[in-house]
Amino acid sequence: MTMDAIIVSDLRSALIPFLDKTPKGQLFVVVDENTSTKCMPVVAEALGEVAYETIVIPAGESHKTLAAVEQIWNALYNHQATREALLLNVGGGMVTDLGGFAAATYKRGIRYVNIPTSLLAMVDASSGGKTGFNYLGVKNMIGSFAMPEDTLVYLPLLESLPVQEWLSGYAEMLKHGLLKDEAHWTELLALEVDDNECVMSGELLAENIAVKERIVEADPKEKGLRKLLNFGHTVGHAIEEAYHAEGKDVKHGYCVLWGMVAELYLSVVKMGLDKEVLRQMSSVMLAYYGRPECNCKDRERLVEWMMKDKKNRVAGEINFSLLRAIGDGVVDQTVTREELDEAMEYLFSL
Ligand code: GLY
Repeated sequence: MTMDAIIVSDLRSALIPFLDKTPKGQLFVVVDENTSTKCMPVVAEALGEVAYETIVIPAGESHKTLAAVEQIWNALYNHQATREALLLNVGGGMVTDLGGFAAATYKRGIRYVNIPTSLLAMVDASSGGKTGFNYLGVKNMIGSFAMPEDTLVYLPLLESLPVQEWLSGYAEMLKHGLLKDEAHWTELLALEVDDNECVMSGELLAENIAVKERIVEADPKEKGLRKLLNFGHTVGHAIEEAYHAEGKDVKHGYCVLWGMVAELYLSVVKMGLDKEVLRQMSSVMLAYYGRPECNCKDRERLVEWMMKDKKNRVAGEINFSLLRAIGDGVVDQTVTREELDEAMEYLFSL
C-alpha cells in the first residue's frame, strides 16, 4: 500500500490518466454545498467535455454521518455506477473521508481520487487512506483504510480560503514539524498568518506533506509508527466532540492545536521534552487560536470522551502519542489521571 499526494500545476493533465481508464458515464464527483460553488468551477474547467454526475452532500461536521454515505451510495446506484466507476472527491476532509468510505464500500470498492480544497485536507486528511464517518458522537468511529488512487493538490483552489481554514491546516502542519525535525519546526514557526492567508512556498508544503507520506508508507494500517500522526488528537478530539455535543462549531485544526498544547505538557512531564517547545506552541496558540471554550469544570466530560477514543488499546486506558524531543515521538503511552488533569489545567489557564 503506498500513498501519493502530489502538488500539480495543471489539474487537467493530472486527471487525464484516471479519466482515460474510466468508461463513459462512470465518472462521479462528490462535493459539499460549499465546494460545489467555490471549487467545482475550477474542477469542471479541468474536466472540460468529459461527462460526469455531481453528488452534492450537505456541508459541516454535523453531516459527517451514515446518511451522507448513503446519499453517495444511492446516487452511484441510481446512476448505474459499475465497479469501473471513478469517484472524484472535491472538498475538505469531510468530503474526502465520506467519499473515500463510500468508494471503499460500494460494490466492494471502486477507485477514487481526492482533490482537496482546504489546507488541512491537502496536508493531512485527503491522503493516507483513512476514510469514514462519525457515529454515536464519536469522531470517525466507523471507517476503513482505503487508499485513494491519488491525491491531487492544486494550490489555486486555496485562493478564497478563510483565515480560520488556513489556521486549521497550519495546526496539522505544525504537528508534522514536531514529528520531523528542528529545521522544519523552525521554518513553520516563522510563517506569519495575516488577516487573509498564510503565505507559504509550494516547497514548504511539499516537505510537510512528505512527513505524513513517509510515515504512512512505513505503517499504512496504523499498527505502530503511524500512531505518531495522532499527536494532539487524543485531547483534541475530546474537545472537538465536547463542542459538537453542545451544538457548537469548531475547526478540527484548532482542536488539534489545543490538544497539542496539552500533550506537549504531558511530553514535558512524562518524556523529558524541552519546555521551550511547549512555550513555543503556547505562544502560537495565544497569537492565533485563542483558548478553547472549556474550563476545569469540563475535565470530567473531556476524559469521558477520551475513554471512548477509538485509538485506545485497553478499555478504560487512554492511549497517547508523546514526544521525547522534536523528531523523536513515542507511541502507546499512558498517563495518570493527575497528570492529565494538570495538562488540561495548563491549557485552560494560558
Ligand atoms: N490524520 C492522521 C492520519 O492520517 O493518520
